[in-house]
Amino acid sequence: MFILAVILLPVIAILSYNHFKLPKQSIEQTKKILFRNNKAIIIGHRGGQFEAPENTLIAIKTAYKNGATAVEIDVDFTKDGVPILHHDDEVNRVTNSTGLVKEFMWNDLKKLNAASKFNYTITKGLIESVEFEGIPLLIDAIKLCMKYKLSINLDIKSNATGITNFLKDLLLKEPQSPDFIFVTSFMPHIVYKVRKECSQFGTGLIWRPHLLSRKMNGEPYDNQSIYLTLLYDILDYFYMWSVHLWLVDFLGVSLVSINKNYLIENGNIEYWRNQGIEVIVWTVNNVEEKKFFLSKNVPVITDSLLNSEYCPEPI
Ligand SMILES: *[C@@H]1O[C@H](CO)[C@@H](O)[C@H](O)[C@H]1NC(C)=O
Ligand SMILES: *[C@@H]1O[C@H](CO)[C@@H](O)[C@H](O)[C@H]1NC(C)=O
Ligand SMILES: *[C@@H]1O[C@H](CO)[C@@H](O)[C@H](O)[C@H]1NC(C)=O
Ligand SMILES: *[C@@H]1O[C@H](CO)[C@@H](O)[C@H](O)[C@H]1NC(C)=O
Repeated sequence: MFILAVILLPVIAILSYNHFKLPKQSIEQTKKILFRNNKAIIIGHRGGQFEAPENTLIAIKTAYKNGATAVEIDVDFTKDGVPILHHDDEVNRVTNSTGLVKEFMWNDLKKLNAASKFNYTITKGLIESVEFEGIPLLIDAIKLCMKYKLSINLDIKSNATGITNFLKDLLLKEPQSPDFIFVTSFMPHIVYKVRKECSQFGTGLIWRPHLLSRKMNGEPYDNQSIYLTLLYDILDYFYMWSVHLWLVDFLGVSLVSINKNYLIENGNIEYWRNQGIEVIVWTVNNVEEKKFFLSKNVPVITDSLLNSEYCPEPI
């Protein structure tokens, strides 16, 4: 019985892997967006959050004025299923209210001031104050990017069904949208569904080390017990192994979006490129680091399109 199981389990695993694995996406589709005249694009993180209130229309406009070729924006959904731009689960950090995005109806969310904490824009030589700037609809953000010919990295925070519905609808209205929009997520199930149902769009998995166990600065997540951190540390090790050895292959993506420190320390840009997978890097604010990645023609996601001297560690 035991021997039978030992033989059968790997067979079942291999068969189901092959059954559910998605075909590899054409790297040409991905490259078309990531490079302009063969040069890697520079992507304003949340629209360039050092120079404007993050994830807003005015951030997109400011990024354009500051010379961005692309923006990265975060997509979430309201309680009534409306796709909007927002990064955190809660509105507390950027708006004048509190609570979870998914608990707000769109009619209430749109009244909040997304410029209540970061209330100005910086363009070359000019600081202007912003009194009110709402949380935008995803569709309005896309239309504005089209006006400015900015490519768009959609970072999907939740609701795999919601985003595939949105993208299918967008394809009907804007059949060219896969030429300027690509989709990434930390969550493999979202990447899987977008790859499967909206395969026209370049799609990538986002990853950083210690994703499950720790914050960006290496500290455990708030109020997480030491045992849970230890368990997640082990899971993180397994997840890192999975991302590198089978998950990216399984999802059939031709793009990974990886934390800069890991790429610098491990020099593994070539590891991916040798497999026909492009790499984009986040969040690169230091000028020397930007030069380093751009010299390797790796598209960079940056908070500061103006290379502000003031470059704290990203949030
Ligand atoms: C946030 O600011 C807007 C605009 O000033 C205002 O209309 C709204 O009532 C405020 N919301 C809260 C919860 O303070
Ligand atoms: C922006 O915020 C600062 C401090 O938080 C405040 O002093 C200033 O008056 C605000 N400006 C506007 C336009 O609200
Ligand atoms: C996901 O988005 C759809 C809209 O396409 C919405 O109907 C649904 O309620 C959303 N689900 C969640 C959990 O937000
Ligand atoms: C952590 O726990 C403290 C005390 O129980 C609580 O006040 C705080 O809100 C918690 N923080 C988070 C992020 O859950």
